[in-house]
Amino acid sequence: MNIIAVAGKGGTGKTVVASLLLKFMADNGACGRVLAIDADPAASLPSTLGVKVAKTLGDVREEIASPSGVFFSEDMPTDMLIEYKIDEIMVNTPRFSVLVMGRSEGPGCYCLINDMLRHFIDKLSSRFDTILIDCEAGLEHLSRRTTRDVGTMLVVSDLTKRGIDTAIAIKSIAAKLHIDFGQIYLVLNKITEDEKVKTALAGLVKDSGLTLVGTVPEDEHIRAFDLIGKPILDLPADSKAVVAVKAIFEKVCK
Ligand SMILES: Nc1ncnc2c1ncn2[C@@H]1O[C@H](COP(=O)(O)OP(=O)(O)OP(=O)(O)O)[C@@H](O)[C@H]1O
Ligand SMILES: [Mg+2]
Repeated sequence: MNIIAVAGKGGTGKTVVASLLLKFMADNGACGRVLAIDADPAASLPSTLGVKVAKTLGDVREEIASPSGVFFSEDMPTDMLIEYKIDEIMVNTPRFSVLVMGRSEGPGCYCLINDMLRHFIDKLSSRFDTILIDCEAGLEHLSRRTTRDVGTMLVVSDLTKRGIDTAIAIKSIAAKLHIDFGQIYLVLNKITEDEKVKTALAGLVKDSGLTLVGTVPEDEHIRAFDLIGKPILDLPADSKAVVAVKAIFEKVCK
């Protein structure tokens, strides 16, 4: 099983890039059965994919933890119960499946959701060929080790030094924590035609030591779709960002 994760600073375009990657993964037989995991507590992936998700892993965690939980059964081991519940909350479309981690109330709960997810990913390796994770912004997923088993880490940055600094931090913290991504790549998103910006950016990328796998242009279709909540998955095939992500897909998924 191949695990691909999309991480980076907040608002750089992780969810947009993950959605467009999923479009090509789902339409390409080589990726097999694909599971998309929304690992951001704010959970915006379902809407960019045009999928309705009724319950999250956080909800399941609360149900199981609740003393009045109707699903709690003394006869069923917790492991089995979690697996059963996860199957229930996973949304399956003919092209891919979606699972949302969500959030949970109270201290320590989020770690528990992460534990559940890691355990679940191990179990699911026989059912899915590819898992795509849309990470939460920043670096927390590294310390929680949700991205421990990731084969390809795509770090998205916008045209800011802060975006690239976050990408550098992801690489160096992963190394310190001995998290070994098979490959880690930088994706520059929201690229404009401004030559001054492009030159400054080229310098930042060179200094970062990161491998640039592709650039995605600023695309007015994305703004228009996001404005009215239309799924990014339905962007026209000749849309600038779609064409650019296809090239990235071909580099990382083949
Ligand atoms: N290539 C692009 N062209 C135009 N707009 C874009 C592009 N990529 C992303 N955007 C816009 O930038 C905003 C942030 O995108 P997105 O939600 O994918 O970022 P994110 O990194 O997932 O954010 P968060 O950290 O909140 O999860 C959205 O409003 C989206 O419409
Ligand atoms: Mg997002």
